[in-house]
Formats: sequence, C-alpha cells, structure tokens
Amino acid sequence: MPLTESRSDADRAILSRMSTRAFTSEPVPRSVIGQILSDAAAASALVAPIPWHMHVLQGDVLRQLCHAVCAAHDALRADAGLREAYQEPYDYYPEQWFSPYLDRRRENGWGLYGLLGIGKSEKDKMHAQHQRNYRFFDAPVGLFLAMDRKHGGETLLDAGRYLQNVMLQARGHGLHTCPQAAWNMFSPIVLPQLGMRGDDTALVCGMSIGHADAAALVNGYYTPRVPVADFCHWRD
Ligand SMILES: Cc1cc2nc3c(=O)[nH]c(=O)nc-3n(C[C@H](O)[C@H](O)[C@H](O)COP(=O)(O)O)c2cc1C
Repeated sequence: MPLTESRSDADRAILSRMSTRAFTSEPVPRSVIGQILSDAAAASALVAPIPWHMHVLQGDVLRQLCHAVCAAHDALRADAGLREAYQEPYDYYPEQWFSPYLDRRRENGWGLYGLLGIGKSEKDKMHAQHQRNYRFFDAPVGLFLAMDRKHGGETLLDAGRYLQNVMLQARGHGLHTCPQAAWNMFSPIVLPQLGMRGDDTALVCGMSIGHADAAALVNGYYTPRVPVADFCHWRD
C-alpha cells in the first residue's frame, strides 16, 4: 500500500505490515531480534508479567526442525490416518465455518493461489505452497510462542497483542513477518525438539521474520479488508 509523507511512524508500521510469504537469506542480527521481542512486551496485558515463552530458531536448529515437519507434512498427505497424531493444541478455528466468514476465507485463499497461478485441481502445487509454511518461507529466523496449558483464553488474547507488537516492531527495523498457526498441528514434533512437552505446554503460534523478497510474486498479495462501515456500528 503506498504511504504518503504525512503519515505517522505508527501508521507506516501498521499499514505496511503484511503477511510476507517469501524472505531473502539476508541474516538478521540477534541483537535486532532481541530488541524487537523486548520492546513488544510493552503490549497491554491482563495477565502480567508475560506468561509465555518465545523460542527463537536460527541456523541448524531451524533447518532440522523444518526438515522434520516437512517430512511429517508429506507423510500426512500420503496417509490421512496420521491426522489423529496431530491435534491442534487449542481451538483456533471455529468448529464449523459460516457465512460470510467462510466466503471471505475462501476468497482470500483463492486470491493468493490465483496470483501464484495455482488452479483448484492442482493439489501438488497447493501442497508445495502450503509446505512453505514449514520452511518459515525461507526466513532466516523462526519464532514460536508457547504457553502453559493451565492458562486460558485471556492469555491467548494477551499473546495476540504481543505478537502484533512483534510484527509492528519488526517493521520499525525494516523487517517483515508472517504469523503462522500452520505450525500448531505439528506441535508433537515442534515441542520436543525445543525441549518442551505437549501435556503441559501449548504451542500458540509460529512466526517467520526476516527481509521480504521484493521480487517474489507471493508478496504482491494484499488481503482485502471489508469497509469500516460493515463492522463499525455508531450508537449516538
Ligand atoms: C494468528 C495468525 C495465524 C496465521 N497463520 C498463518 C499461516 O499459518 N500461514 C499463512 O500463510 N498465513 C497465516 N496468517 C496470516 C493471515 O492469513 C493474514 O494475516 C490475513 O490473511 C491478513 O493478511 P495480512 O496479514 O497480509 O494483512 C495468520 C495470521 C494470524 C493472525
């Protein structure tokens, strides 16, 4: 989205954030990631202080985890019976999608695949594009936010605001991000590799972070928003 000079820094961060699905290999200094994760903690929170853990993956640890999860993703495609082993750690999606949200969700999905030239019958291409999630879209840094299962919905809300701050802080450093719930179902693989157990810990969200690949077609996708009048109701 083009931003005029008159916009504030806050506007610039908010309006230039987008889910970025292709990154360059340019490294991001550890100090920059540390600063982003520290500053993001200024988010408002019902539950203080920060009741979750953020895991930062780079280098071999990141590569090994991506390799393991991509293999599991392929195996799951070959044998749907394996789905039992990969339950979501919490109800992120509604049990049943309904209109108009189902239609908007489909519109977004097909908008993205359409831009990439992936047709509705091209299951191999869809699988490959979806699997890019499990490579953090080639970003040099991957984040995982995990929390104790004893926490409830209020912590998920707090974590959501923290993650939004991470994404906005990243923009302030010239970086882009993609929040990724796609990782959650593979928490039986992710958690043990990071030294955690699924019976007491829930994987809340993954996130890619790095420099956007400006030449990548996929980064040209802008998710449409409904006009403010459709969801804002004035009561005078
Ligand atoms: C909690 C959360 C989880 C998400 N999970 C994924 C994901 O697994 N893979 C993906 O490509 N996008 C994911 N997204 C990105 C959304 O699809 C995206 O934010 C939405 O379509 C709006 O587009 P924008 O972020 O480009 O503005 C996620 C977003 C959020 C907030």
